[in-house]
Amino acid sequence: MFDIHCHICYGCDDGADSLDTAVKMAELALEKGTKAIAATPHCNIPGSFANFWSEDFETKLDLLRAALAERGTEIEIYPGQEIFCTSRTPQLLESGELITLNNSRYPLVEFDFYEFSDSVYDKLRSLVSHGYVPVVAHPERYAFVSEESGAASAMKSIGCLLQINKGSLDGRFGMQAYIAASEMLGGRLADVIASDAHSPYMRTPDMSHIHEKICEEYSYEYADLLFSGNPERILENRETLAF
Ligand SMILES: [Fe+2]
Repeated sequence: MFDIHCHICYGCDDGADSLDTAVKMAELALEKGTKAIAATPHCNIPGSFANFWSEDFETKLDLLRAALAERGTEIEIYPGQEIFCTSRTPQLLESGELITLNNSRYPLVEFDFYEFSDSVYDKLRSLVSHGYVPVVAHPERYAFVSEESGAASAMKSIGCLLQINKGSLDGRFGMQAYIAASEMLGGRLADVIASDAHSPYMRTPDMSHIHEKICEEYSYEYADLLFSGNPERILENRETLAF
């Protein structure tokens, strides 16, 4: 599996609080079948985590890779960000203050949970018009997606990909998110499932049980696309596939 949404970049947001914690997260991910992780710290959140891209982040990821190599933990760590999407996001990507997933055409973007759909669509259209393919983080957690039928399809029509959180499928984020995630999977609108892990203990990078659930409830082929095929393509800047 390939995990394109994980707060493993330590000491910069509400995810891993230290290098040691980040190592524990990577070791758990590998043990549970994940062979590559994109480190996606929160960034560009007004009044909260700014986390504009800098050498500090590269240094942290290098130290994490070195610590993992020293322990013989063979897992790839790629750069990325979970970008709080604003109208300035395209410019900030072009200036290098924000980055996409492994410097691909795919930025991972999040929104306020109660943002209006029209505002979300405008920002996504702007990113697409600048040549990006936005990966919408946890669409099932946004109020408008549950309240407005056709919202998920609308984002796909704009040219986005939809990334479901594994936690939404085990009930962590409530019934609304579970139902919205299940509807996107049932309609084959979901493109990727990722951990959105924050710790080795709660909201972990272990995706194995949800992989099994998707195999049982849908098919092995769909699970393979959601957990491996598409996220690997994203990290390699290749076209993703629909199921
Ligand atoms: Fe996240």
